[in-house]
Amino acid sequence: MQVHRGSSCAVLLAAGAGRRMGRDKALLELGGRPLVARAVLDLLTGGVEHVIVVRARGAAPLPLPADRRVCVTEIEPGIEMIDSLRAGLAERPAGAAAFLVLPVDHALAGAEVVALLLAHLPRERPAIALPLCERRPGHPIAFSAPVLAEILDPATTSLRDVIRRDPDRNLTVPVTNPWVVRDLDTVEDLAAAQAWLRARPLPAPLLMREHRSRRAYRPDPIPEEQLAWLVDCARHASTSSLIQAYAMVAVRDPERRREVARLCADQEHIRQAPVFLAICADLHKLERACARHGRGLDASPMELFLQATIDAALVGQNLQLAAEAEGLGACMIGAARNHPVELARLLGLPPRVFVVYGMTMGRPTDDPVPRGRMPLGGVLHFEHYDPAQVDAALAGADDVVRAWARRVNAEQGGFQGKPVHEGRGWTDRIAHLFGGGDHAKTRRHLVPELRQLGFGLE
Ligand SMILES: Cc1cc2nc3c(=O)[nH]c(=O)nc-3n(C[C@H](O)[C@H](O)[C@H](O)COP(=O)(O)O)c2cc1C
Repeated sequence: MQVHRGSSCAVLLAAGAGRRMGRDKALLELGGRPLVARAVLDLLTGGVEHVIVVRARGAAPLPLPADRRVCVTEIEPGIEMIDSLRAGLAERPAGAAAFLVLPVDHALAGAEVVALLLAHLPRERPAIALPLCERRPGHPIAFSAPVLAEILDPATTSLRDVIRRDPDRNLTVPVTNPWVVRDLDTVEDLAAAQAWLRARPLPAPLLMREHRSRRAYRPDPIPEEQLAWLVDCARHASTSSLIQAYAMVAVRDPERRREVARLCADQEHIRQAPVFLAICADLHKLERACARHGRGLDASPMELFLQATIDAALVGQNLQLAAEAEGLGACMIGAARNHPVELARLLGLPPRVFVVYGMTMGRPTDDPVPRGRMPLGGVLHFEHYDPAQVDAALAGADDVVRAWARRVNAEQGGFQGKPVHEGRGWTDRIAHLFGGGDHAKTRRHLVPELRQLGFGLE
């Protein structure tokens, strides 16, 4: 990947014993994730290219993402903060031009603050950037490479001294996040942080990263106005040539949801969710539009089928995200393609409409372990597709899935009530599913049934 490596680097200080809290702060769970994992993710999301986590020798292992951009360095327990920082900086990548220091108990400072500091920090001259909240400077602290020598100098006894040495080179960046000036020292701080996390609106990219499919819900219905608002927002997704070739059928009636569940692999969350949305590719409305002008719709091209299916995928993804932004949870249901004709009949779909996938939605009651994703190198290429990059990402993909399996078994006794095989990685699963096994035969009926529903697929 052609990333400008090492141009910014963060030292995450996670060596403290957490004496006041009585627990290892790095491992404190906040919003379902340990502080250290949250901090690493926010640093990377905020634009840092290399994170060095400083940990005391003998401390518990850290649940960190399998990511080449993240490394851990160990120090002797109980040493001064400036020495921890120097130990971290000793691992810096060559050529780094901007540095950030983040104590793990300021992990809630967040990706936006990181991004703001990096954006404001001059690289070519000695400069220190600090976030300012409630008129106080806080963490993380960013500094340019020309300041590095002063910090690495053994005569320097604290970072504060370096900051105070020359106020002219310091710049403050006003932010509204109170956790830049407030650390997590007490159980009360932790409770306040939890409440703040629940209440805070997330910026869209972070909301995407926080996504988890939710499969258990409170029974209370989603008010019709809220559902209408969410769908109205979602349908501003891009749509091929403005064709808007999608439709949704919201099934709230419990008896009808039971019927839907029966057609969708008997998934319990369809019965349990207050609403099931059938997200359809809809060429019916195009047909009606043509009829108004004395024309018949040619629904035979594969391209039109794809356009409608892509439209349906985009609107549904927007809907899931909009729901998550309002504290709801959702799960897409591909099993809605198990019996397309029967499901179309149940929902009263006119010809040339089919359910691409379903979606359960409601106030979630589960707290799933995040599935994670393969390393970015398996997804993002520059200028040309690089198969070597993909090969390199597959080992990481296996690690991510195995780490998820271990965690889901340990914390929740398995996934959806069943223990997960901890030795099987992503590639094992893919080979098992698509390498000639039974899965290859699933939904063989799809093409004839779609034709029956009026899609030509030619
Ligand atoms: C088109 C589509 C169909 C899906 N179908 C189902 C389904 O039938 N049942 C289910 O429980 N999850 C279903 N999922 C959810 C995936 O299993 C889930 O997105 C994936 O495992 C990653 O987990 P995450 O969404 O929690 O990150 C579906 C997801 C997509 C995108």
